[in-house]
Amino acid sequence: MAKPKVVLTRRWPKPCEDKASELFDATLNRDDSPMSADALKDALRSVDALFPTVTDKITAEVMGVDGRRAKLIGNFGVGFNNIDVEAAKKHGLVVTNTPEVLTDCTADIAMTLLLMAARRAGEGERHVRGKHWTGWRPTHMLGTKVTGKTLGVLGFGRIGRAVAHRAHHGFGMKIIFHDPFPPQDADIEAVGGEKRDSTEAVLREADFITLHCPALPETRHLIDAKTLGQMKKSAILINTARGDVVDEAALVAALKSGTIAAAGLDVFEREPSVTEALLALDNVVLLPHLGSATTETRVAMGMKVIENAEAFFAGKAPPNRVA
Ligand code: DGY
Repeated sequence: MAKPKVVLTRRWPKPCEDKASELFDATLNRDDSPMSADALKDALRSVDALFPTVTDKITAEVMGVDGRRAKLIGNFGVGFNNIDVEAAKKHGLVVTNTPEVLTDCTADIAMTLLLMAARRAGEGERHVRGKHWTGWRPTHMLGTKVTGKTLGVLGFGRIGRAVAHRAHHGFGMKIIFHDPFPPQDADIEAVGGEKRDSTEAVLREADFITLHCPALPETRHLIDAKTLGQMKKSAILINTARGDVVDEAALVAALKSGTIAAAGLDVFEREPSVTEALLALDNVVLLPHLGSATTETRVAMGMKVIENAEAFFAGKAPPNRVA
């Protein structure tokens, strides 16, 4: 029997490309350039499965292409706001994602940003590299202590809880959270979590706020001028979720005016573009969407895409089906 035809929209780690080529008739994107909407449509017309990444916009229009052959979209990523899931359902397309394998590394990046923003590590590095350092002195580059402070977690799913675990057990932080769909009590207790009834209650009480909600119409600009105003002036905001969750212009204004103290961002509203206003600020740490960017995790993500596709083509239920 002929192997299913698949398209990988970007380069994948080598072990995953090798595995995909062994199991499928795989078209690889050797120059790693983003595919245009037209190229994505062509792919959907000519293969059985498309394996996009979180930066490929799989819109209703792309999926509605005439003569579509593809039946599966295997997203390389846990977040799938790049895919119009309702349109996928309407068109009878199965969509899968890659949960669990990136939980730890994304939580590690949230802690990296939290520590960097609190201890002014980005600024300090620029200071040394710029040859401005004149030596140790008691008032030089004072940051904010992390140990024992209160961490507010918005979205208490796998990644939110993994951050809470690190913060509570590693840094003795008090953990408060809000999630409209809270996890089981045992999972909350394991990370020392305390439930709050609203986002506002978390924002008012926390010293650090870390965002772990999915990008949905309901969470778009969850952090805006109003909610930034509910935070402590000393608060530090961390976003490793999705850029859409934060109104970036409002955040810039808040960082400039001292409404909040600092921020750490791994995701942006218009990736990969980062506004000049953000680039100009010293009290924000900026990373290029590195949450899952370790060799171990990216290999595991690619293997998960393949595992889901193997199940699908064998007529079984893909383990990580989201539509
Ligand atoms: C995801 O998988 O959603 C991540 O944002 C990629 O790092």
